[in-house]
Amino acid sequence: MEEKGKEEKEKMIEECCALHKDAFIIKPTKRYPLVLLMAMLSLVMIVGIYIFSLCLKQGGIVATPNQMKVSVTKRPCHHPTAAASEIPYIHYPEPTTYSREECACTPVRLFAILSMQRSGSGWFETLLNSHINVSSNGEIFSVKVRRSNISTITSTLDKLYNLDWYSSAAKNECTAAVGLKWMLNQGLMLHHNEIVEYFNRRGVSAIFLFRRNLLRRLVSILANTHDRDAKQLNGTHKAHVHSKNEADVLARYKPTINTTLLIPELKRADNLAADALQYFNSTRHIVLYYEDLVNNHTKLMDVLDFLRLPKRKLSSQHVKIHTRPLARQVENWDDVYNALKGTEFERCLRADYQV
Ligand SMILES: *[C@@H]1O[C@H](CO)[C@@H](O)[C@H](O)[C@H]1NC(C)=O
Ligand SMILES: *[C@@H]1O[C@H](CO)[C@@H](O)[C@H](O)[C@H]1NC(C)=O
Ligand SMILES: *[C@@H]1O[C@H](CO)[C@@H](O)[C@H](O)[C@H]1NC(C)=O
Ligand SMILES: *[C@@H]1O[C@H](CO)[C@@H](O)[C@H](O)[C@H]1NC(C)=O
Ligand SMILES: *[C@@H]1O[C@H](CO)[C@@H](O)[C@H](O)[C@H]1NC(C)=O
Ligand SMILES: *[C@@H]1O[C@H](CO)[C@@H](O)[C@H](O)[C@H]1NC(C)=O
Repeated sequence: MEEKGKEEKEKMIEECCALHKDAFIIKPTKRYPLVLLMAMLSLVMIVGIYIFSLCLKQGGIVATPNQMKVSVTKRPCHHPTAAASEIPYIHYPEPTTYSREECACTPVRLFAILSMQRSGSGWFETLLNSHINVSSNGEIFSVKVRRSNISTITSTLDKLYNLDWYSSAAKNECTAAVGLKWMLNQGLMLHHNEIVEYFNRRGVSAIFLFRRNLLRRLVSILANTHDRDAKQLNGTHKAHVHSKNEADVLARYKPTINTTLLIPELKRADNLAADALQYFNSTRHIVLYYEDLVNNHTKLMDVLDFLRLPKRKLSSQHVKIHTRPLARQVENWDDVYNALKGTEFERCLRADYQV
């Protein structure tokens, strides 16, 4: 695009000069009087100078008569192919900590992955970050002081979306989408009115990631909580693992689920997700389910589409921990089975995906 523009510019300057040269090789003929000849010559020269000045202007160089100072005018970035409805979501951040240089006119989309603990968002975020143009900066709001009140939240978001947030997700390539992973219980629901207003004002897109099988999620929560104390992997606690061997060690633990608390807990999680969807309904969003992503990797391309990113193969080093049927992952399976049978959560008892 830029290359083509440059070529055209050069071609036009060449044409200018060719025209100029032609003007000089017009041979005076005896048939015209000198005055007419002079007039013709000056006309050609004026036209030549005019075209030459046009060439200069097109090249973004301003030449003023008294000061032949050559300066490159700074043009605002624009996105010629964007539809009007897309404009609010296109940004050209100017970070205070560095210069975007050749990426300055690469449009940037702002996003937030809104999810709940143990719903696959860690895996999902590593997939997104494997895209050269994506920078997703993790659970920024797991740090309590950043979510103390709405002003700390908005100033944190401002810094992030201005590309001034430093994390391992920072890219050397042109960032075309910047965001974070935000758990519903990290101030998001508490300050939902102001955050929705912020998202709509700044053009932030929300990516909801939920888990359909809330019982599997509960097993993951209990196993993760257990490992926090047990530290089964050589004395360190790991929430996510990168090898089959590590996954097997963590999956060996089978939690006992308190059946009195089971249904209220599943209801609480279900309602939380429903409330979040309702609160953020006016925000541009996409809703994803962990199980769908596991079953169908093309679903990930829907996310790239949503963020208007070029399609690329995404990859993650995360290895799934609980892959066995639920019956073999819960210590008191019969009790759990009986507690859920015939309830709205009966669907959670069925294996709803193969791994
Ligand atoms: C918000 O929280 C920060 C950090 O805890 C504090 O310094 C600031 O005074 C608070 N602002 C308001 C308006 O409460
Ligand atoms: C992605 O990054 C590459 C490398 O910096 C850059 O050339 C390309 O324009 C970027 N793509 C988008 C859509 O921004
Ligand atoms: C524990 O550490 C040993 C030696 O560093 C290593 O070979 C082994 O794989 C580790 N085990 C786990 C479960 O990470
Ligand atoms: C289950 O939880 C309830 C409420 O906390 C408690 O009263 C009950 O003792 C627990 N049951 C078991 C078997 O731990
Ligand atoms: C969101 O709003 C639309 C219409 O504005 C409505 O049809 C839809 O049911 C709402 N969704 C939720 C989850 O509230
Ligand atoms: C996989 O996801 C894509 C994109 O959402 C969808 O078009 C396709 O029908 C899905 N395939 C299956 C087998 O569900």
